[in-house]
Amino acid sequence: MNYINPSPLKAAITAVGAYVPEDKLTNADLEKMVDTNNEWIVARTGISERRILKDPTKGSSYMAIKAAQEILKKRKLNPAEIDAVIVATITPDMNVAATAAYVASEIGATNAFAYDLQAACSGFLFGMSNASSMIASGRYKKVLLIGADKMSSIIDYSDRATCIIFGDGAGAVLFEPSESGYGWEDEYLRSDGSGRMFLNIKAGGSLFPASEETLQGGMHNLYQDGKTVFKYAVSEMTNAVEQIIERNEIDPENISYLVPHQANKRIIDAISKRVGLNDQKVMSNIEYFGNTTAATLPLLLKDYELKLSPGDRLVFAAFGGGFTWGAAYLTWSY
Ligand code: UT7
Repeated sequence: MNYINPSPLKAAITAVGAYVPEDKLTNADLEKMVDTNNEWIVARTGISERRILKDPTKGSSYMAIKAAQEILKKRKLNPAEIDAVIVATITPDMNVAATAAYVASEIGATNAFAYDLQAACSGFLFGMSNASSMIASGRYKKVLLIGADKMSSIIDYSDRATCIIFGDGAGAVLFEPSESGYGWEDEYLRSDGSGRMFLNIKAGGSLFPASEETLQGGMHNLYQDGKTVFKYAVSEMTNAVEQIIERNEIDPENISYLVPHQANKRIIDAISKRVGLNDQKVMSNIEYFGNTTAATLPLLLKDYELKLSPGDRLVFAAFGGGFTWGAAYLTWSY
């Protein structure tokens, strides 16, 4: 059962932190805002409520800082020891000025370099690849990875095809060299730019800079062709998980948990069914948080942290805008 890779440079997740705002946006609230109903939302997505950061003066950094501070407190960690801070987000506080740099300064990570990573709903998964590679390179000892998104800042709350899914939140993990032999084992990451027309924010970038026309046309809000995204998400996430299972010769029986991006309960169910995992082996909290984009995976780790033991086999999977997607295999270290 116990899989041990003796590499001294293997990266392990050694702490988890998270933050969600107090304010809830329930299905009953949405019924008053758009033409929808609780039964439809629950049946089609599995979501009952989401958290919303209502304070207009606070951006994603507010939640990212809180998630990071939980790790510093739990681990009694001196922030000056952190080598790098990565913030995966599609809702940075501002363009150009990296949100990660602000977060690093605010938590006192004065010796860290910091940058944002944008891979939409796959941002945290890709970020884990970056962070674990930094540790495995031997050049860095403590890398803080945060997934944070204030999705409510880019959602059109009159678009019922989109607004019912998304919520706000942040989660963080610390990557360090593994002392137990457990940690980052493998990854299968992919992208396909032909998918960008199906899930995007059209304006505000170099292709369509902000103008009267982009504002009037609602081109600064998140757009998705839900049906197409759904179809690709199920097939590509399943394929990525199967690749990971096959090449690491994992018996699905021995997977402790599938850790899937929380976009739609039906997507999660379809993948777990195809892979042959029962509900007990699938992490899920979509019912309470909805889709928090880059924050879904660390929010799951936070919710299940106390159920995990050293050596537990976790298989992560995500799919998002770009398109971007993939799966990864990690053995839990504590
Ligand atoms: O994180 C990565 C990004 N996003 C995703 O992974 C999202 C993937 N897609 C989805 O989760 C689903 O496609 C949605 C939840 C967005 C939509 O569910 P669906 O089952 O694909 O619905 P649909 O778009 O096929 O619409 C079915 C019906 C339509 O009515 P008609 O044409 O059959 O009369 C829609 O107009 O449901 C209607 N509908 C709604 N009804 C009540 C669409 N949205 C709603 C709504 N409430 N909120």
